[in-house]
Amino acid sequence: MRMDPAPAVAVSSEAALGPAYLDGEFLPLAEARVSVLDRGFLFGDGVYEVLPFEQRRVLFGAEHIRRLERSLAALEIQRPLPAKDWEPILKRLARDAPWPGGALYLQVTRGAGPRLHLWPEQMRPTVLVMCLETPQRDLQRGLAVISCGDIRWDWCHIKAVTLLPNVLLRRRAARAGADEVILTRAGKVVEASSANVFMVRDGRVLTPPHSEHMLPGITRDLLLRELDQAGLPCAEQPITLRELRAAHEIWLTGSTLGVAPVRLLDGQPLVPPETPLLPRAQALYQELKQRPGAAWTADA
Ligand SMILES: Cc1ncc(COP(=O)(O)O)c(C=O)c1O
Repeated sequence: MRMDPAPAVAVSSEAALGPAYLDGEFLPLAEARVSVLDRGFLFGDGVYEVLPFEQRRVLFGAEHIRRLERSLAALEIQRPLPAKDWEPILKRLARDAPWPGGALYLQVTRGAGPRLHLWPEQMRPTVLVMCLETPQRDLQRGLAVISCGDIRWDWCHIKAVTLLPNVLLRRRAARAGADEVILTRAGKVVEASSANVFMVRDGRVLTPPHSEHMLPGITRDLLLRELDQAGLPCAEQPITLRELRAAHEIWLTGSTLGVAPVRLLDGQPLVPPETPLLPRAQALYQELKQRPGAAWTADA
């Protein structure tokens, strides 16, 4: 099955890599170095967050740091900083980034040590935060997705850097001319390789419930709350692939994606209803981003 060619993603030049934060120091990303004995490098032993920023406002920082702390605790990685210390770091990088909008990539690994599966008790975590340019894509056109079985591990609720299955799944999508994969386990939809999944059927918005098999997306959770508060019928419930195929609308959500429509599922076009709910969902999400409490604003 071959669909449209996947959108080209522009790769940053080194000059545009921007500033970074590494283990207590701000420096140009091009100068940042970590040990080859870092367990992030050797084992993928670490966790991460991707925080969007717009007009140099870091969005939903508190929510991302809360999830980071949950991921660290789940993997028994020492907390490198008190929760309140992340805000000034993230604000400064958003202020100094080469672009007014993009994403901040925050990674904490267990640190450097002897290459042994069992880690020593006392390890100093490695902390890296860098700026990411988010690719300019026309998301309104809609994404092409393919469905496939989930080949990841059983703890997908932890945002671990160990993303090899996700990387290979995205490659599989690109080979099929698609943008993303929608993953299933035992016939049930879990999520995409880097996004959560919503479907609309007969005016009801549905998304799979939290489980260990999917990441509790910040965008997903916030959007669901906004839809509910706006009085739109919505529910968290298991969705079969069969039900997904009968959806009137499918949306993918994520911090750098926002709320994006799917246009093709396994090569089959979706036939949206006369009044799709997507514009409403996107407007609610946009409004939410503008609320005063939603962002950490970089000091001048
Ligand atoms: C596997 C997976 N699911 C869902 C999401 C969406 O999460 P969020 O809305 O917090 O960006 C991501 C984001 O990277 C992801 O990697």
